[in-house]
Amino acid sequence: MVVGAIKTLIIGASGMLGFDLCKAFPDAVRLTHRELDITNRDKVLEFIGRIKPDLVINSAAYTDVEGCEDNQELAFQVNGYGPGYIAEACNKMGAVLVHFSTDYVFDGSMNEYLESDTPNPINAYGRSKLLGEQKIAEKMDDYRIIRISWLFGAHGKNFVETMLKLSCEMAEVKVVNDQFGKPTYTVDLAHKISEITELEPGIYHMTNEGICSWYEFASAFINNAVPCTSEEFPRKAKRPKYSVLINTKTGPMRHWKEALKDYLKEKKI
Ligand SMILES: NC(=O)c1ccc[n+]([C@@H]2O[C@H](COP(=O)([O-])OP(=O)(O)OC[C@H]3O[C@@H](n4cnc5c(N)ncnc54)[C@H](OP(=O)(O)O)[C@@H]3O)[C@@H](O)[C@H]2O)c1
Repeated sequence: MVVGAIKTLIIGASGMLGFDLCKAFPDAVRLTHRELDITNRDKVLEFIGRIKPDLVINSAAYTDVEGCEDNQELAFQVNGYGPGYIAEACNKMGAVLVHFSTDYVFDGSMNEYLESDTPNPINAYGRSKLLGEQKIAEKMDDYRIIRISWLFGAHGKNFVETMLKLSCEMAEVKVVNDQFGKPTYTVDLAHKISEITELEPGIYHMTNEGICSWYEFASAFINNAVPCTSEEFPRKAKRPKYSVLINTKTGPMRHWKEALKDYLKEKKI
């Protein structure tokens, strides 16, 4: 697929990843939540039928992990059934679908996860995202589901931004040191998408390189982080201890510490 020559549609265009996807695909048609609610099957079929894209990139999702516990019906509609409607429309139009899923489809009982490992989500967000994966695979063949983790990008609420704010407000910031993953910069991810469209349909894991705990991540950019355990920081949604995605299908991305430097530059910090 020669990306420059094809018609691309980005759904969820005003989200954190959506913003950088729009920069990476400047000619793409963009739809925000205000313009298209993906839980409305008729509208999804109507919009995609009218736009006639060759490639659809869906970054719309209900991403509030705690909120998903409280609003499970909404989580399943947006993260589960919505992607299924998009897949149905793509299949009808002969479009390729790129969709984003998450490390939280895994339970974290293993140290690392390959694309072929069996998901077993332990929270509502993870279950709803897994349903999205299943609905897409049910409705079409030509999809790329890209599982990603610990996103940070300049145009959305994220861990780096939250920690920088807390670091200014508090003498010390407690950060959990017993959950491990791979931080990933939205700009790096957005620039890998066209490569993925050239590859076989299926599930991909794509993250920046380098494994760390949330505490280690925070310590890379604030100097008053203090390690704590997950038990000291109780939350409604359970989090996997190890949600390390191993990418076996595409070339590696750079280390998250290098990406973080660019993020901080982009934010002028
Ligand atoms: N952030 C992470 O750490 C992370 C980790 C792993 C995977 N992911 C996945 O990566 C993708 C992008 O995440 P992100 O961090 O960029 O999320 P985000 O900033 O929360 O953006 C999601 C976008 O989806 C829109 N949206 C919500 N409900 C919708 C609906 N019913 N119809 C249409 N649009 C809707 C939101 O609009 P409103 O804000 O107006 O509701 C928002 O613009 C998602 O699939 C997410 O599950 C994220």
